[in-house]
Amino acid sequence: MSYYRDTYVEVNLNHIAQNIHQLKERLVSSKKIYAVVKADAYGHGDIQVAEAALEAGAEGLAVAILDEALKLREAGVTAPLLVMGWIRPEDAALAAVHDIAVTVFQREWLDQAGEQALERPLRIHLKLDTGMGRIGVRSEAELDEILPYIDERPNFQLEALFTHFATADEADTTYLEEQQRRFDELFAHFEGKWQENVEIHTSNSAASMRFPEKTAHFVRFGISMYGLYPSQDVKRERPIDLQPAMSLHSQLIHVKQLEAGEAVSYGATYKAQETEWIGTVPIGYADGWTRKLQGMDVLVDGKRHPIVGRICMDQLMIRLDQEYPIGTKVTLIGKQEDQEISADDIASRLDTINYEVPCMIGSRVPRVYVKDGRIVDVKNAL
Ligand SMILES: Cc1ncc(COP(=O)(O)O)c(C=O)c1O
Repeated sequence: MSYYRDTYVEVNLNHIAQNIHQLKERLVSSKKIYAVVKADAYGHGDIQVAEAALEAGAEGLAVAILDEALKLREAGVTAPLLVMGWIRPEDAALAAVHDIAVTVFQREWLDQAGEQALERPLRIHLKLDTGMGRIGVRSEAELDEILPYIDERPNFQLEALFTHFATADEADTTYLEEQQRRFDELFAHFEGKWQENVEIHTSNSAASMRFPEKTAHFVRFGISMYGLYPSQDVKRERPIDLQPAMSLHSQLIHVKQLEAGEAVSYGATYKAQETEWIGTVPIGYADGWTRKLQGMDVLVDGKRHPIVGRICMDQLMIRLDQEYPIGTKVTLIGKQEDQEISADDIASRLDTINYEVPCMIGSRVPRVYVKDGRIVDVKNAL
């Protein structure tokens, strides 16, 4: 639980719970939420977020790769688990024994998986590619090959059908409707018995918040569980008042005065214009605070201060408006008084999407979990 550096991510577990509660209120009560906790819960910490999400009412968890699902099972998570990406067919038995549902969309895959002695039936979610163009069954002909094959084998249990939307976060819903129409066409191709016994899940954060009435049996709730809007269009619509769960903080570890013309950092590219206070902050590109963030602000004393000079591997320098004591709090993502630097601000500076921002913060930065104003856990990767 202990760590010995001054830079940390704070994850507010109450905010994760609030975001789930708000979506629950928007969905019809019989609909379920699968919390998407892949990629170490979008950088927030998989086990802690999984537990918080289940406690807040999520019915299941979704990850991208088998290793992530196995880690959750090893941690004692007993909730339904789905791997949304491809797994190797030779690992089907491992998934089955741990009661992990897997994503299937290839007949050859079933052939190879079927060669193994499965101790328990393998729970299958059949992926339909309705326009994302990534993975999934695209045609009725493929379904004609796959469905009877599953039907003949008691070790394969078709549990759900799903698809993924490519544009659910865009104001223009034409392509989304096209994907929905394609899903309905493929679904109509299933025989009655399949249609009655399988569950359906199509919605990500954007679709579930914007079109709750279109939700099938459950939704896969990712980015917005963490309190971020999937796009600026959805942020403008604001179907739910989301609370960001992650903030990033550090401290001043050195403060000094430079005279005009004196330089800061590698390349000596920044030179003080006049007598300036410069603070050093112990976070760098090895922590995910990439060199492209040079010039971005941080918050100190409720005010914005720019990063000056090149960002180093473990440290960066900021120009201060006055002298501050060592140990003064520095906020890189989050609020100080009436100022805020959001993951969206960092994303727009980096010309990317907010999804990438929590994911880019390295495992060397401890995650501190706060609930009801108290620290309840710490995840320290080192
Ligand atoms: C198949 C699938 N479903 C759901 C999600 C969650 O999407 P979001 O984070 O936009 O809610 C993802 C994330 O990329 C995904 O790949």
